Amino acid sequence: MAQLWGGRFTKETDKLVYNFNASISFDQKFYEQDIRGSKAHVTMLAKQGILTEQERDEILKGLDGILMDVRAGKLEITSEYEDIHSFVEANLIDRIGDAGKKLHTGRSRNDQVALDMKLYIRDEIDEINGEVRKLLQALLEIMEEHVHTYMPGFTHLQKAQPVTLAHHVGAYFEMFRRDRGRLEDIRKRMNTCPLGAGALAGTTYPLDRAYTAELLGFDEPTRNSMDSVSDRDYVIELLSALSTIMMHLSRFSEEIILWNSNEYRFVEIDDAYSTGSSIMPQKKNPDIAELVRGKTGRVYGALVSMLTTMKGIPLAYNKDMQEDKELTFDAIDTVKGCLALFTGMVSTMEFHKENMESSAKNGFTNATDAADYLVNHGVPFRDAHGIIGRLVLTCIEKGISLDELPLEEYQAISPVFEEDIYEAISMRTCVEKRVTYGAPGPEVMEQVISENKKYLEK
Ligand code: ARG
Repeated sequence: MAQLWGGRFTKETDKLVYNFNASISFDQKFYEQDIRGSKAHVTMLAKQGILTEQERDEILKGLDGILMDVRAGKLEITSEYEDIHSFVEANLIDRIGDAGKKLHTGRSRNDQVALDMKLYIRDEIDEINGEVRKLLQALLEIMEEHVHTYMPGFTHLQKAQPVTLAHHVGAYFEMFRRDRGRLEDIRKRMNTCPLGAGALAGTTYPLDRAYTAELLGFDEPTRNSMDSVSDRDYVIELLSALSTIMMHLSRFSEEIILWNSNEYRFVEIDDAYSTGSSIMPQKKNPDIAELVRGKTGRVYGALVSMLTTMKGIPLAYNKDMQEDKELTFDAIDTVKGCLALFTGMVSTMEFHKENMESSAKNGFTNATDAADYLVNHGVPFRDAHGIIGRLVLTCIEKGISLDELPLEEYQAISPVFEEDIYEAISMRTCVEKRVTYGAPGPEVMEQVISENKKYLEK
């Protein structure tokens, strides 16, 4: 047990206590960030005359050595140290001696861990944002290809009106675009540097906090040292944004599972993204989509855990906050994994256009358009609704679609119907006539696609 404290203690820490307290098994994940922060700190200390230039150079060299050795697998991060901060400091002292003992001047592990967590999350936000961008790119490609692929649009999971696959996928494009926006907002709001807040009340050394903030790519230093060490809002905001991403992925997964089912057959998930059954030879299961849907729960769990952990913590730092790490790391890794697999699955999925179109036809999705036909011939909408309702009932009894109902049947119920009713209720007409901005009509759809393309190029 290599500890950073002990002077005022008369007994060794109990072994169980030591293990319960230690965070090295998980906070070793941000050794890079910890070293980056320490380098900025000593650079500032030397600029302020708190360390000599020689001490600074020795420390920087020592820290770089640790970084290289850990990266190369030459230096193992072991449970002999309580946390990553102790590990780095102890190693530095082993390597360079007395100068290493000056690294922690004007710093506490409280502002250090707040900094590490922010640096880590900032890097991860950029990575997740990149993964969402790749998914959007894949969705845009599907949209470009399927402006004329007709399918039923649903409400209450009942066929409602015809849309296109481009339009349906476009709805998810919007969701994931907002997700990116959320990540960018969080990154902007959290980009203030806690380093220099000390344990809670700042330090008596003349630190230049604006300088370390700048060295580490922050917009400015945090304005209150107590808040700096006890703020985990950005963790909660990130977990909330990640939960929303998962919610979107989960809804889409649910639809893909339905579409891939034997009943719908709208899509076929590629063999490379499917799994079989150990007993039923015919099976090809959408496990990836199911796992994405399932993993949503653990990301929500992380959000609720973190909110609950923070709710009763008095100012300023308390050890409860160490609990932020494992669940945040797990949520981040889960979301990144899900995004990458989901993107692979949708971009290799095959779409059965004919099944989609015939499903739209056989579900009376053109019934509103048939009523609109009557309205355009002077029939009040409420009457038109009743007339088409009766025709739908006739079709259900005969087991046919509105397109297949003979003209005589139409005319028997209303003399207004002419031969052109069939053209008026064709899938093509139904979709093409939906011309409002944001609707599935091909012209407005193409417009939205080109706007999305510009957005992705930015
Ligand atoms: N491992 C701690 C954490 O994750 C680091 C800060 C410890 N500070 C302290 N005073 N015990 O929060």
